[in-house]
Amino acid sequence: MNKQVSIAIDGPAGAGKSTMAKAVAREMGYYYVDTGAIYRTVAYFFSIYGVSPKDVDGITRLIDEISLEIRYAEDGAQHMILNGQDVTGELRTPEISDLASKFSAQKVVRDFLLDTQQDLARKHSVVMDGRDIGTVVLPNADVKIFLTASPEVRAKRRWEEMRQKGDQKTTYNAVLADMKERDQRDANRAVAPLKCAPDAVKLDTSGFSIEESIQAIEEIVRKKLGQ
Ligand code: DC
Repeated sequence: MNKQVSIAIDGPAGAGKSTMAKAVAREMGYYYVDTGAIYRTVAYFFSIYGVSPKDVDGITRLIDEISLEIRYAEDGAQHMILNGQDVTGELRTPEISDLASKFSAQKVVRDFLLDTQQDLARKHSVVMDGRDIGTVVLPNADVKIFLTASPEVRAKRRWEEMRQKGDQKTTYNAVLADMKERDQRDANRAVAPLKCAPDAVKLDTSGFSIEESIQAIEEIVRKKLGQ
């Protein structure tokens, strides 16, 4: 089997990871893996069963009941299949964002998902985005990028996206507060916290448009892969 290529894109919420990762995956013909959606699916599962993110016993008891599958639609969109049911439409709510961040701090959850993620990269060339891809999941990734932007810029992007999707109620300040709280938790948890791998290229996209960011990332990828 040919060696698969892996590209890790990590960073805080709203840094533009998924937009960038999707663009690079399309350009390179690789699979795009949104690992946040995997954590969100697990959080959704436990929310259905009423298990709290602090209830380690409850999580441990039920976690093996989770069967996860990732499917790709014709347009390349990633769909999350939880125990046979497509739950993709349930995952992008503020409640699930909050719960995913809380459940993902539990070691038992991270251990459970580690193999799923590594297995994808063993089988396919991937662009994987998340928080700990370059540090824990794929420490030998061919390319590692740590994407950042100021909390204000990230909150504005997320808020505008929500408005475009029809949410006219949520205020910018609420999005900013949620984002700061989530950043804090993701960066300070004991297991696999959000941090830049020593060998990652750090890119701050605060002053960049989407096109400029994509261009910058594709340049980093080409350089690293020697293309
Ligand atoms: O990228 P996202 O916003 O969809 O991720 C949701 C939460 O999942 C995020 O707050 C932290 C967690 N997560 C993680 O801990 N590790 C990853 N590789 C991806 C996401």
